[in-house]
Amino acid sequence: MKLFTRAERFATPLLLQIVAEAARMKSSKTYPELQGKILGNVFFNPSLRTKLSFETAMLRSGGTALSISPGGGTWSFEGKFGVRMDQDRPEHLKEAVRVMSRYVDALGARSFAGLQSAEEDAGEQILSAFEEYATVPVISLESALEHPCQMVADMLTIEEILGDRTLSNQRDLPRENQYRGRNFCLRWAPHIKPLPLAVPHSSILAAAHLGMNITVAAPDGYELDERYVQQAREIACSNGGSYSEDHEPDALPENTEILSVKSWGARSLYGKQAQQAEELRKLSPWMVRESIYQKNTHLLHCLPVRRNVVITDKALDHPRSKIIDQAENRLWGQLAVLQWLFEQETRD
Ligand code: CP
Repeated sequence: MKLFTRAERFATPLLLQIVAEAARMKSSKTYPELQGKILGNVFFNPSLRTKLSFETAMLRSGGTALSISPGGGTWSFEGKFGVRMDQDRPEHLKEAVRVMSRYVDALGARSFAGLQSAEEDAGEQILSAFEEYATVPVISLESALEHPCQMVADMLTIEEILGDRTLSNQRDLPRENQYRGRNFCLRWAPHIKPLPLAVPHSSILAAAHLGMNITVAAPDGYELDERYVQQAREIACSNGGSYSEDHEPDALPENTEILSVKSWGARSLYGKQAQQAEELRKLSPWMVRESIYQKNTHLLHCLPVRRNVVITDKALDHPRSKIIDQAENRLWGQLAVLQWLFEQETRD
């Protein structure tokens, strides 16, 4: 049974192969053969891009995607074990996941972090239930700590932005070396409420697999999960890049070619709503403005984005803002992931 759920399962060569396949499908406008396949997606949280791009991907490939939102026309699911189910969740994931596996050919699950307890979020309770009980392949549609499909789309987008110029200058350079040592900055930005760490983790892993020099710029106290920092550092270094951190709102490393912006919450403030709101107000100078662009800087954001809270209108609408291409690449990246997932399944 195949899982596209956690980055630690994927080595750089496999991810580069998936991204190359996504680029090939995008340029040739071709789709995998998924005739008759059904993907069942379970959204515990809202989505635009992930939902629509998976449904489109399956339809374009001859298959179907069915999406449900537990509690919205479907039973609410309990994910905790050993509890007395006398509250408002009448069905346990232990049954639900096994039942759904009897109907569809693969399952997707979106389950955000609760942001109340770092330990609870690290347990990835819902994703783990899908991994354990599904009898068909599983794709993460974003879990508490990771968004692997966003990682693939980000890799494809970075390759598109940086690849052509490198190729025209250095034609003999192997594809996987074109991004090595080029500067990537993941920059924290303010928001009206704390957000999960999944996208920031996947964002630094995308840059790490491309061997880029990664800088994470965030206020003190807004550290990422150490396991993901360690993973990104090791992967970046083994691919010829580096990893460092910065805490200044105006600092962008010289010659930053990719600026990935994201808001996330401070784990020390989980569950402390009043303190969080006050802190987020104080950090408004971190809002990303047009002036942050350097000569070769390109802006990424996974979307949705709150204009003039996270990033100003002018910065979002800048000619080197690539947020719409990045969102489109969710479709192509996922087509390649689906092809890999179903191909692998039939070979085993
Ligand atoms: N980036 C992303 O996952 O978008 P959605 O939340 O709209 O799916």
